[in-house]
Amino acid sequence: MITYDTALNVFHLQNKTTSYVIGILPNGQLQHLYYGARIQPENLAYYLDDTNKAAGTVKYYEQDHKFSLGAVDQEYPVDGIGDYNEPALSLFDATSERYPDFHYDSYEITKVKARNVKVPGTFGDANQVESLHINLKDEQNNVWLTVTYSLFSDTDVISRQATLKNEATEPLQIHRMMSAALDLPAQPGAEFIDLSGAWLRERHVQRTPLVQGIHAVGSTRGASSHQHNPFVALASPGTTEQQGQVDAMLLVYSGDFLAEAELNEWQRPRLLIGIHPAHFNWRLMPGENFTTPEALLVHSEHGLNAMSQQFHQVLRQHIMNPKWLQRPNPIVFNSWETAFFDFDAEKLLKIAHKAKKLGADLFVVDDGWFGHRDSTASSLGDWIADSRKFPAGIADFSTRLHAIGMKFGLWFEPESFDPDSDLYRAHPDWVVGRLNERHSFGRGQYILDMANPAVVDHLFDQIQQAIADAEVDYIKWDMNRNITEAYSNYLPAEQQGEFMHRYMLGTYDLMGRLLQRFPDLFIENCAGGGGRFDAGMLFYSPQIWASDDSDAVERLKIQYGTSLVYPIDAISAHISAVPNQQVGRQTTLAMRNNVAKFASLGYELDPNLLSDNEQQQIKKDIEAYQQDADLIKNGRFYRIESPFESNETAWMVVSPDKRHALFGWYRILATANPSPKRYLKLAGLNENATYQIREQQAQLTGAELSTWGIRLPYEFNATNNDTAIVKGDFTSVVYHLDVK
Ligand code: GLA
Repeated sequence: MITYDTALNVFHLQNKTTSYVIGILPNGQLQHLYYGARIQPENLAYYLDDTNKAAGTVKYYEQDHKFSLGAVDQEYPVDGIGDYNEPALSLFDATSERYPDFHYDSYEITKVKARNVKVPGTFGDANQVESLHINLKDEQNNVWLTVTYSLFSDTDVISRQATLKNEATEPLQIHRMMSAALDLPAQPGAEFIDLSGAWLRERHVQRTPLVQGIHAVGSTRGASSHQHNPFVALASPGTTEQQGQVDAMLLVYSGDFLAEAELNEWQRPRLLIGIHPAHFNWRLMPGENFTTPEALLVHSEHGLNAMSQQFHQVLRQHIMNPKWLQRPNPIVFNSWETAFFDFDAEKLLKIAHKAKKLGADLFVVDDGWFGHRDSTASSLGDWIADSRKFPAGIADFSTRLHAIGMKFGLWFEPESFDPDSDLYRAHPDWVVGRLNERHSFGRGQYILDMANPAVVDHLFDQIQQAIADAEVDYIKWDMNRNITEAYSNYLPAEQQGEFMHRYMLGTYDLMGRLLQRFPDLFIENCAGGGGRFDAGMLFYSPQIWASDDSDAVERLKIQYGTSLVYPIDAISAHISAVPNQQVGRQTTLAMRNNVAKFASLGYELDPNLLSDNEQQQIKKDIEAYQQDADLIKNGRFYRIESPFESNETAWMVVSPDKRHALFGWYRILATANPSPKRYLKLAGLNENATYQIREQQAQLTGAELSTWGIRLPYEFNATNNDTAIVKGDFTSVVYHLDVK
């Protein structure tokens, strides 16, 4: 619900649990008044009091020595006009910085947000979404700023976005334009929480105490990246999964981003998120608009789990394609770790036949099916099947797969081409980077200029032809290298600063066009593992390959961290052979299954090389997964014990009606002489209901399970072979809980 108090000029945005209050400052700028637990502000005047004076600041008015932009909370702070903290906007003319002074002009409330496949963003019908657009004008420079806030009926997330319009006669240059800024009350000891890591260990939870100054994470790689994720949270000291106050922001974007917190001299934090300004300089011609990507804001009074659940809800209901919500994600067998480049149609069909017998739905031919690609050294860009590997053609392969009831998936890496490719030989000017200058290689490949519409058209034609010819049901969309020497040979000199963002817009456009052409196409996103696991990609792709690291123990951290923001059904998790290819670790099939079960399950191994027992086990595991698939897809996820804090991990997922739950517990290393009896408190259950714990043949109430806890499996202690349930390193259990 959005209301406007005409007497006090205050906007009040309210959803089920939070309130967001915006005022208008004496100079006409937008003031941030409040974001937090829902309130009914009857005494707003009290909070609007401005009789006190801030010391050590520059004043805005010559006559008024009280009012300083450096001391008030703002909705969209502008650079260079008295507030020295990180700004949301920095604007230049042809040569020098301009200092717009935006004054409130008008507002509009709209309902309905259409799903526009050209750019990722939230959507919803008239009953689900309400948006407030506040228009501000800078008279001197003749620019308009519109800040937009959307509320959703089924989640407490608030989305934000900003649009700049140039009404002047001269072009402007946007050097920095963030999607949202959030000024918060002082919270000594508050922690900055982000998801950071590297290739093979993406999205690890990182917590850093904030001190006065700037703390930031970001990417200038052209992708949201393995190293950081476009998400940031600020948590009150001591925040846990179940308690504490958290304010978080998530950017719906897949390219360069900056997420930062600045703690000012009064320990008051400002959070900002948006496109990274480092390689950004957008020319705004007279009459043109520029709109930022959307940022999603969550305020939680109940710790990190409650924050995550809000993000999961908004991503599932208002970002991801609703088409996939009701359908279980396919159980995939993928050729990559199974065969790498060493395959032909017959070999793959043998694997696919066995996979089908074990219960898989879809077979993916990963890298190596096109051109003459026997290694990473050639052929990216030539999306035509290699006749040595597919002598009867890829369509014939697809027909044979479909004939046994398997769906067909194909790998593409659309945004790259190899120096050894027909595409590069035909269009060397499509490379990212100045012609005739040195270009860095990444995995031996160059990047295609996705800012050039001719490149996007060409890729659309080639990929759509390949999909149509071979009746492809699913594509794995990879991106294996980051951008360097950013330069478009298509864009004019004055627009080179737009390249990084235009690259993303071109990529989104290609995805959107393919999905319009093939509405049932399932896209799994990937970027050399989990280098582009973000809300922008989730808009097009209901699941994302979380990491090239398929080791079960490493995956505990990756999945735990990823779940901080992203729903678990979006996490693509494959069981691979042991010893694991990435870390050389040996884990049991049970451990690998118990981890992958809390995600979208798939396999990357040759089932023909497994023992009969292992094959039977996989068959049972797939059947069991299918029975739990609805819980994984629509359930509420709770993290219970963190792999970043202990030798153990625990999590659970509870059905929306709280009648069913699935609990997973994992112990990394065996401990000597462990406690003979241990309980772990569960979360999210119906306190009044009695649950049957299938695997323990026990019945307990939801209240008992969340206060006393569930009994953990007895651990081997050198004397209890008869009763021990877990023994050795890398052990786990999964329990089902059902209301009788
Ligand atoms: C990336 C992906 C892998 C696989 C290879 C193929 O590394 O993350 O899953 O597709 O590329 O080259």
